[in-house]
Amino acid sequence: MKSILGVNIDHVATVREARKGTMPEVVAAAVIAEQSGGHGITIHLRQDRRHIQDRDLAILRQVVHSKLNLEMSLTEEIVRIAVEAVPDQATLVPENRQEVTTEGGLDVAGQLERTREVTARLAACGVLVSHFIDPDRRQIDAARESGARYIELHTGSYANARWAEKTAEYRKLVDAAGYAASIGLGVNAGHGLDYHNVQPVAAIPEVEELNIGHSIISRAIFSGLAVAVREMADLIETAGESRDWPWTV
Ligand code: PXP
Repeated sequence: MKSILGVNIDHVATVREARKGTMPEVVAAAVIAEQSGGHGITIHLRQDRRHIQDRDLAILRQVVHSKLNLEMSLTEEIVRIAVEAVPDQATLVPENRQEVTTEGGLDVAGQLERTREVTARLAACGVLVSHFIDPDRRQIDAARESGARYIELHTGSYANARWAEKTAEYRKLVDAAGYAASIGLGVNAGHGLDYHNVQPVAAIPEVEELNIGHSIISRAIFSGLAVAVREMADLIETAGESRDWPWTV
């Protein structure tokens, strides 16, 4: 089975929030991602709203034609928002206000009751629920026990591993994917995947969906920078040639 690509557009919002303005528009990013081969759009509405905002979720819910995947913590405020928005998929993640990005998988085994409750509330609204966990059989068993239909394997340790540890980290992902599928869970994966390390993970037969953000948005800066500079230079160069500005009287 080929994996599908969920494009995480959080970092488009990160650039916008650097100025607290309207540019770049995440909704436009979602449309481009969908038109360019992305099979889904992933966003993380964090408690501190450092990138994605509530209005992004509300508009994306209406605009996204593919699969809208909401990464979310177990906090009550965010759970209520998710229940109202009804994303196609909710991926439960741990969240710590000080972290730069999601660190480590959700400790489902350590908070089974809360995870089960949140999973049930989301599932009751028709949301497909996935748990973002480390490739660890104990957490996989707990995810199933708490009602998840899917897990998302945290690929960060594999992505960050040095050459000598790469194979061992990769084997953990292969083993976890096989084990999860054998007990009836669907398997997604993500975090830290880039243009150099994605193929071995995409080749794991059980992996259905890869959620990738930072590397895609980083690459977009360089694949678009030359054109963006040229367009601005052209405007400056031709500034005296036209006075056709609608606000001039
Ligand atoms: N999956 C989950 C659960 C995440 O928290 C993140 C980061 O928001 C990603 C995937 C995407 O990670 P990256 O931006 O490193 O591709």
